[in-house]
Amino acid sequence: MPTLNLDRSSIHYEDFGEESEARPSVMLLHGFPLDGRVWLDVADRLKHAARVIVPDLPGFGRSSVSERFTMDSLAEDVVTIAARLRLGRFVLAGLSMGGYVAQAVVRGYASKLSGLVLCDTRAAPDDETAKQKRDEMIALVRTYGTPAVVDVMLPNMLHSSAYEHQTELVHRLKSIMLDQGPRTIEYAVSAIRDRSDGEKALRESSLPGLVVCGDDDRISPASVARSMGALRSGIDVEIIQGAGHMAPIERPEAVAVAMESAITRWNIGGARRSHMD
Ligand code: MLT
Repeated sequence: MPTLNLDRSSIHYEDFGEESEARPSVMLLHGFPLDGRVWLDVADRLKHAARVIVPDLPGFGRSSVSERFTMDSLAEDVVTIAARLRLGRFVLAGLSMGGYVAQAVVRGYASKLSGLVLCDTRAAPDDETAKQKRDEMIALVRTYGTPAVVDVMLPNMLHSSAYEHQTELVHRLKSIMLDQGPRTIEYAVSAIRDRSDGEKALRESSLPGLVVCGDDDRISPASVARSMGALRSGIDVEIIQGAGHMAPIERPEAVAVAMESAITRWNIGGARRSHMD
């Protein structure tokens, strides 16, 4: 089981494929309260075209964490993982909370990236109402633990028809959510609540970008995705039909196709070429 020991955490990751001059490197960051398993179907479809790294962020899945984290500390962890794995400049994709982390990487370490994929996420920070809901979730997880958070969140995660009819998918997602520890959930909700605005960094960065969003995402809706795409030229938007907030696990083929064609358009080459940039 590949593991990297960082200062504040031990990171479990999946590594699909080898470093090569011809193939770009891609890292896929999961959302909340989830782990790398939500990206594995996409990784499996992308691995013929790229080296693909799927970490469990600190405290999630099989990764441990020894102290509270913030979006900025997670961003630092992401670039450390990339350096340890010799990714060179890499494409960073983030699902929802992973998208907040990816935007923190753009803010602090844009030169490490060759492209950005933001999936079912948003760039604007929480307003006062959203922050209050985060505080309520912290109180909920402290009192009742992970299952209470899953009960609140699960009905809104998937496309409404998937939630009603795709029992196996609902079960798979639920069991990933139930695997996340209450302490990590508390740290993550605080980090999400306190995250900075991502719009300025996105507007000012010149990275090629792709925003992906399920057509029935009721947490970060398609209208939000379109407004992220409108921040500047060079950020394409792909709306995935038949998906909710979890497009990579609901429609992995469609997400992988959108990502692969974006990466091909960006013409960014492989790891060694990136090292020399
Ligand atoms: C996620 O899926 O990571 C969360 O829904 C993010 C959020 O609540 O803002």
